[in-house]
Amino acid sequence: QADGHEVMTAEGLADADGMLSVLQDSFWETHAMQCGYCTSGMLLAGHALLEANQDPSEEDIIEAIGGNLCRCTGYRQIIEAIALAAKRLRQAP
Ligand code: FES
Repeated sequence: QADGHEVMTAEGLADADGMLSVLQDSFWETHAMQCGYCTSGMLLAGHALLEANQDPSEEDIIEAIGGNLCRCTGYRQIIEAIALAAKRLRQAP
C-alpha cells in the first residue's frame, strides 16, 4: 500500500539534530501522553492535519485523530497539544 509513497514516521518529525518539532514539543508541553502506545499515530495524524489546516477547530482535531484509539483516554491533552502546535505554527515567523 505504501509503494510509491513517502513514509513519515514519528521520529521523522524531529529535525536532523534531534530537536523536537513544534508538534512534538506541544505534546510534551501539555502532557499529551500517558503510556505512549498511541502517541506515534496521534503525532502523525496531527502532523497531517496541520499540513492541511493551520487553524483547525476542536472538531477538526477530533475528526483528524478519530482513526486512533488511546487506551489511556488522554484525548483532552492530545487535542490541546495539537491546538497548541497550530497556534505556535501560526505565530512562527
Ligand atoms: Fe496510552 Fe494513548 S497514551 S494509549
